[in-house]
Amino acid sequence: MDEDPRANGESNDHSNPSKKPKISSSLSLITQLQIQQEFAHHQDGVARINNGSFGSCPASILAAQRRWQLQFLRQPDSFFFNYLQKSILHSRTIIKNLINAHHVEEVSLVDNATTAAAIVLQHIGWGFAEGQFHKGDAVVMLHCAFQAVKKSIQAYVTRAGGSVIQVELPFPVRSKDQIIAEFQRALVIGKANGRKVRLAIIDHITSMPSLIIPVRELVCICREEGVDQVFVDAAHAVGSVHVDVQEIGADFYVSNLHKWFFCPPSVAFLYCRKSPLSLNLHHPVVSHEYGNGLAVESSWIGTRDYSSQLVVPEVLDFVNRFEGGIDGISKRNHDAVVDMGEMLAKAWGTVLGSPPDMCPSMAMVGLPASLGISSDDDALKIRTHLRDHFQVEVPIHHQAPKDSKVGARNGNNCITAYARISHQVYNKVDDYIKFREAINQLVHDGFTCKVLSQK
Ligand SMILES: Cc1ncc(COP(=O)(O)O)c(C=O)c1O
Repeated sequence: MDEDPRANGESNDHSNPSKKPKISSSLSLITQLQIQQEFAHHQDGVARINNGSFGSCPASILAAQRRWQLQFLRQPDSFFFNYLQKSILHSRTIIKNLINAHHVEEVSLVDNATTAAAIVLQHIGWGFAEGQFHKGDAVVMLHCAFQAVKKSIQAYVTRAGGSVIQVELPFPVRSKDQIIAEFQRALVIGKANGRKVRLAIIDHITSMPSLIIPVRELVCICREEGVDQVFVDAAHAVGSVHVDVQEIGADFYVSNLHKWFFCPPSVAFLYCRKSPLSLNLHHPVVSHEYGNGLAVESSWIGTRDYSSQLVVPEVLDFVNRFEGGIDGISKRNHDAVVDMGEMLAKAWGTVLGSPPDMCPSMAMVGLPASLGISSDDDALKIRTHLRDHFQVEVPIHHQAPKDSKVGARNGNNCITAYARISHQVYNKVDDYIKFREAINQLVHDGFTCKVLSQK
């Protein structure tokens, strides 16, 4: 058995992994051909312009993951006693430097953003159960918060006596000031009748419709308005926008690493700013380490496969093979997705759902009104139709224009739906052309969603 963890890409010195992604002298820049080889396991012929939902993992990282799995299986006891904790700490240290956290204790590795939300919301739920919060005290969240997070609020907070205030976000949106104004309005409601806002949940990048939220400004407003704690749901952030948790200033910040940072499914980090309160946070799966701090609790939640957490050093090497490391990747993805979005909007006579600077590595592109997408159900059906008949994988968002407002227009009609396109290193212009032509074909054939409803 190879018990030297360096066989899996560890360096000798774990104390100070590179703070900013750098090209190390032993790594050469990746070529286009190598990128293709890294993603050769993607199904042939599919225009996969939906990195946002599940991310993607290169072949070399899958191979590294397999090596970690085998290292465990070869001699589990030795791996458990000698390497597992040390290696998880190494991954946490890399993430700590990547996001500019103060202490490695502030960084826990968990399965995904859903688990992180459960940790934070369970903590708030205990605030109600143990009488620190009063019945009716509020949690403020964006109305387009991720559905799983909304359910978690229902399970942990509403059930314990908390109330929920939703911030309505305008869409299409023309500036971040519109979002800031809506957020301030919601806080006023949250604090009405002497209630306290115990938690604000702010997405860094909303899922649907997808937008970069001015998170730093909103956290500042929360501090000024006396909101107890702030949780940033940044499931899409690392690898897609630059993240500096000290600059953002939230109490809790979660990002998946399997969406835009090339880790295998599934791994996320939860940053908890060091404070006396953070000692009360616990992993919902309780194991031997209960009470030893969230990061340590999370690093052993029973026997399971920890390999997706262990490949973080190899992922750092992978992203450093690209010019500018992870920041270079995200900048190029942003530029490309905006170019592709504008190309599609021009072809269809529609618009983007936000200004380019509010697009991460995803963009919302208005779809032709003639497709007749008039409900969430229609949006799901046309998505399935695009997959089954055109081999295009792209999520579709239905957006009913508000009664009193005139929505964005396509010819004489309001745009009622937007496609959320993603760009990742494996994407080609042809993927977006394939999508453009699929929609053009549907429009040309006089297709409307009514046809699908009749099936
Ligand atoms: C904003 C947001 N929060 C939470 C999640 C949940 O992520 P996961 O399924 O990895 O837990 C997602 C997933 O897309 C998301 O977009």
